[in-house]
Amino acid sequence: MQLTMSYFNNLTESIGNTPMVKLNNITKELHCNVWAKYETFNPGNSVKDRIGLKMVLDAEKEGYLKPGGTIIEGTSGNTGTGLAIAAIARGYKCIFVTTDKQSAEKINVLKAYGAEVVVCPTNVEPEDERSYYSVAKRLGDEIENSWYVNQYDNPSNPKAHYDTTGPEIWEQTEGKIAHFVVGVGTGGTISGVGKFLKEKNPEIKIWGVDSYGSVLKKFHETGEFDKSEIYPYVTEGIGEDMIPENINFDIIDGFTKVTDKDAAIFCRELLKKEGMFLGNSAGAAIKGVLQLRENFKPEDLVVVLFHDHGSRYLKKIYNDDWMSKMGYM
Ligand SMILES: Cc1ncc(COP(=O)(O)O)c(C=O)c1O
Repeated sequence: MQLTMSYFNNLTESIGNTPMVKLNNITKELHCNVWAKYETFNPGNSVKDRIGLKMVLDAEKEGYLKPGGTIIEGTSGNTGTGLAIAAIARGYKCIFVTTDKQSAEKINVLKAYGAEVVVCPTNVEPEDERSYYSVAKRLGDEIENSWYVNQYDNPSNPKAHYDTTGPEIWEQTEGKIAHFVVGVGTGGTISGVGKFLKEKNPEIKIWGVDSYGSVLKKFHETGEFDKSEIYPYVTEGIGEDMIPENINFDIIDGFTKVTDKDAAIFCRELLKKEGMFLGNSAGAAIKGVLQLRENFKPEDLVVVLFHDHGSRYLKKIYNDDWMSKMGYM
């Protein structure tokens, strides 16, 4: 038998080409096929490995990132992990700025990757000098030979999904995908995948999942940035209190909002009914699929994207005491 050597030169080469998995139980009542683009198979256990690598490679090409440089980013954890994996492979330091809403597990992991982590208050306006947006930007200005990534406005974020995630979904479904449903934060995933799929077939519908307490759904529907929509919420990873440049609202057909309680409960349902151990936004995404059911025909193929892994939520969603304390169980 002929043996063929098969290996990656470093971990970043293993990013992408994640599986597509049919959901068999949780969406039974829909009478159409729902498949999941299962992003936890990336080496950092989230979709954000894709953008971490792409943003670093593009910054090198553009000359923003130079040898021995420091990568600075405001991140809730997953983008930090993706950037850290790229930084280790290519020899950079990392400073991550995050909020006190994020789970301790996520912050501990970033530190363990060797990054410095700065924690800022959640409940301040984005323009406030204490906000994690402002602190990350200031550190980028102050620290020599540093580069502020800014995943909210960095075009390499949606480009990573246009180049990889979108084409993978198109190929894995043989172009038969009719609807794409995904949680929206920076907008990188929905905008990159959505643009690719609409270029292939403009009939494909692109649906965003938002949180209560976020401005995105109303902004898409009315064009109004309504500050009264903003209040603190529990769901991690999706929803915004500002409008990121990376959200291409034109390619989005509609949004649905999912409550914190439903997002948490549906994470537990995914584990119980499908054996899928996933993060907070996956619960929101699958509940979003169920809420959008009136848009799906029986012959439609719906693809939902699951962003990250359940291990980052052990002290919250996968902890009965926390679920009871929050009134979710
Ligand atoms: C767990 C999780 N889900 C969903 C999202 C939203 O993805 P995007 O930023 O591409 O809109 C993020 C991004 O921060 C995330 O970390």
